[in-house]
Amino acid sequence: MKEKSILTGIRPTGNMHLGHYFGAVQTWKQLQDREEPFYLEIADVQALTDHFDQPDMVHKNVVELAIDILSCGIDPKKTNIFIQSMVPEIAELTVFYSNLVTIARLYRNPTVKTEMHQKKELFGDKGEGITYGFLGYPISQAADITAFTGVLVPVGEDQLPLLEQCREIVRKFNHIYGETLLEPEPILSDNKRIKGLDGNEKMGKSLGNAIFLSDDEDTIVKKIMGAVTDSNKIKKDDPANPDICMVYYYHKLVNSENLNVVCEECKKGKRGCVACKKELIANMLKFLKPIQDKRKYYLEHPEIIEQILKDGTEKAQAKAKNTMHDIKQSMQIDYFNRQDEAK
Ligand code: TRP
Repeated sequence: MKEKSILTGIRPTGNMHLGHYFGAVQTWKQLQDREEPFYLEIADVQALTDHFDQPDMVHKNVVELAIDILSCGIDPKKTNIFIQSMVPEIAELTVFYSNLVTIARLYRNPTVKTEMHQKKELFGDKGEGITYGFLGYPISQAADITAFTGVLVPVGEDQLPLLEQCREIVRKFNHIYGETLLEPEPILSDNKRIKGLDGNEKMGKSLGNAIFLSDDEDTIVKKIMGAVTDSNKIKKDDPANPDICMVYYYHKLVNSENLNVVCEECKKGKRGCVACKKELIANMLKFLKPIQDKRKYYLEHPEIIEQILKDGTEKAQAKAKNTMHDIKQSMQIDYFNRQDEAK
């Protein structure tokens, strides 16, 4: 039964941007070629923990995200893309695991703490309005991971405390109910975090500093023209420091042809920022073209997206049922099909 798998999840709260692409999707593309089955969860239940009042937004983004994922080159033949809410075993497991976690431990989870403070409008200045569901989402994420015997979990650094919490739950479960679950390990991507156009350490939708995979040409021109450069460079032929320039930072991501030239010319004051930005725009558009062509195709063929999600979800359901059977046996709540009673 313990077929090890790779599992990761993403919340459907917006379109994918370059931060997702270089921070996560690139790693997924490598992982989907491994032997272990790869489950990619569109975590709508988790998205609802802090967007419970926006069901339209979450619904729309499940489909949008599936389109983004496929357009980036995730292959549905290798990767099971599924919708979390369609696998009720995850919710069931969350209930069982919630006995194994104290409220105090959840409050101490650094990821929950940070997010709680970021969402003051929803949860109050001091987190006094936090919901049971949001506080407990690490438990639900542990259910996500273990339902698929996920042992390899590609995640960003911000997710490590959630994985640690999952490992604790697994150990406690095994200690009480007998060896049943496997402890997951994180896989961190090479590009841990992608900076924003404004130089912020993180690119994020809510930070307003992201380039989305779906951005059209005009938007990209506007965004890149406004990107932060070395502020010491005043005149076109002043030498500058590419290491503190966001334009050079993005050149490094999408320009594999004349990166050295860009760097050297910048340092020597032989390249103006406007020209440099224009060159980046051209490279960015070239990089996004195949992704956007696929996006267009999928947008015109919603029936294909639906079929892919159905197939992925069916496989995920079968796998979760299987795991659930073992878990219920260990917990002695498999009332009507216990082998010792069958005789
Ligand atoms: N919490 C993750 C995020 O916000 C998404 C996620 C949901 C996830 N379920 C998961 C990640 C399981 C890894 C494993 O990005």
